[in-house]
Amino acid sequence: MSEQVPDFYNNKDLIFDEIWTLLARGVVDRSEDFRLPTVIVNKGEFSDGRIVVLRGAFKDKRVLRFHTDLRSSKISALKNNNNIYFLFYNKKRKIQVRAKGVATIHYQDEVTKEAWAKTQVISRKCYLASQAPGSVSDTPHPGYPKELEGKNPNIEDTEIGFDNFCVIESKINEMEWLYLASQGHRRAKILIKDQEIITDWLTP
Ligand SMILES: Cc1cc2nc3c(=O)[nH]c(=O)nc-3n(C[C@H](O)[C@H](O)[C@H](O)COP(=O)(O)O)c2cc1C
Repeated sequence: MSEQVPDFYNNKDLIFDEIWTLLARGVVDRSEDFRLPTVIVNKGEFSDGRIVVLRGAFKDKRVLRFHTDLRSSKISALKNNNNIYFLFYNKKRKIQVRAKGVATIHYQDEVTKEAWAKTQVISRKCYLASQAPGSVSDTPHPGYPKELEGKNPNIEDTEIGFDNFCVIESKINEMEWLYLASQGHRRAKILIKDQEIITDWLTP
């Protein structure tokens, strides 16, 4: 018996909008799988990936946004090579999205000021670490002062964290979409050239 399929199943012109709808949901809804993409950067011989929180999805500008610590290893990698990759999977909807783009690092500018103002204490705390993320530590440590473990500082006491805070904006130029369905999978590639969207079916 075949399951009911969504409209985009046989209509490639609906896929781009569907993806951005899911991305936008991921930004606002903690229960959406698209909230937590894997971000992959190039580090010379190897690439590496990590989970981040999706903080912005601007369809009109084709931009995805996340926040990070300026001292983290992904920043030095991006300074050498600003190509960036996002990998998303929505388990319930059975949709995988791979997005390829070019990253811009925002630091101490209007974008970071606005984002920092909206960042809650619990997230700001991570930017209070005295050592860079990934530094070797003699003891098990949260990075930020030990006395803040299990509690939150006053918001005024987190302002110093702004020195480590940056926003990565990635302009997406290509996407690959995979939809799993019991009666037959669907896969498509989307090339994004400013306002022009070119979608081709691929063999899954
Ligand atoms: C659920 C989850 C959400 C995370 N969100 C972020 C994030 O938004 N920004 C970030 O820099 N790291 C985030 N991390 C931590 C990263 O995965 C990674 O460990 C950290 O950024 C150090 O990365 P790097 O040293 O490879 O640059 C998150 C990890 C998890 C498990």
